[in-house]
Amino acid sequence: MEKKDIDWSGLGFGYVKTDKRYVSNFKNGAWDDGGLTEDADIVMNECAGVLQYAQTCFEGLKAYTTEDGRTVCFRPDLNAARMYDTAQRLEMPPFPKERFVEAVKQVVKANEAWVPPYGSGATLYLRPYMFGINPVIGVKPAEDYQFRIFATPVGPYFKGGAKPLTLCVSDFDRAAPHGTGHIKAGLNYAMSLHPIVEAHKAGFAENMYLDAATRTKVEETGGANFIFVTKDNKVVTPKSSSILPSITRRSLMYVAKEYLGLEAEEREVHFDEVKDFAECGLCGTAAVISPVGKIVDHGKEICFPSGMDEMGPVTKKLYDTLTGIQMGRLDAPEGWIVEI
Ligand code: PLP
Ligand code: COI
Repeated sequence: MEKKDIDWSGLGFGYVKTDKRYVSNFKNGAWDDGGLTEDADIVMNECAGVLQYAQTCFEGLKAYTTEDGRTVCFRPDLNAARMYDTAQRLEMPPFPKERFVEAVKQVVKANEAWVPPYGSGATLYLRPYMFGINPVIGVKPAEDYQFRIFATPVGPYFKGGAKPLTLCVSDFDRAAPHGTGHIKAGLNYAMSLHPIVEAHKAGFAENMYLDAATRTKVEETGGANFIFVTKDNKVVTPKSSSILPSITRRSLMYVAKEYLGLEAEEREVHFDEVKDFAECGLCGTAAVISPVGKIVDHGKEICFPSGMDEMGPVTKKLYDTLTGIQMGRLDAPEGWIVEI
């Protein structure tokens, strides 16, 4: 397979139009057979449900070239399951999980020339999404939907790659108790746009959101979960019913325990204890593991001992092990790697 002639190492996290995308339509109560198309544009009615009441959700996963030249995806079954749950919460018809994984494989195969080469630092990001497409004017779910997956080659989500980030504690809330924080609804990201623009203007890479009810507990950022490392090398991640159940975070907790022999705990994390951690990182498909060096809470700085120059040692081990599994350098647990 001849790869596209691209400066892979120079890619940021952006959209590049690739050759093929997958489309399936839900009409008259059923999903059609679906298939690949070259058409990247979507035509819809001015009153489409997604345009009026934001009935849309999405997923994110990646395809990799392994050290021995295979093309693989990481745990697509978990994205299929999460999108199923998201759709149910948004009164959308869930896309069948086996078909989701099958569609992912079709899109990667059809865009294999766009899967960045091993060692380039880039990957092929896959964006499954679904939206209400028929006219809806009274507030109610749409009747017709479209499910799509496109692919785009990406580099690091945060500029500067593995350089530690500085975050700020947000005055805005990301998700309410009993709301939609635990699903991947487009609306969660729409409401985070103002806080992220404000954070960027003030020189921060991202927001740390606290729980909306008490503003005492750590939730997540706009696009990633947190992991912390205690001074005695225990990995800790916040437990909350209003954060997205990150597939990267779930994988890292397993890696910490089963590959690195570390204690790993998912529990409530009070903001007051953040100053006592040795390391902090953001984890997600796009973020992979991005180290955090500093968190600023209304002028008060929390500086992690790992500093502003490189990843902390435990974060680095987690990063190396996870990416080692994804790139085929390390044996993966059963079912984590799906070959295309
Ligand atoms: N939290 C939020 C709000 C996200 O958007 C994402 C990205 O998908 C994550 C966490 C990380 O989840 P995952 O590891 O499944 O990509
Ligand atoms: C992902 O990591 O896949 C996401 O959807 C997060 C988004 C901020 C790009």
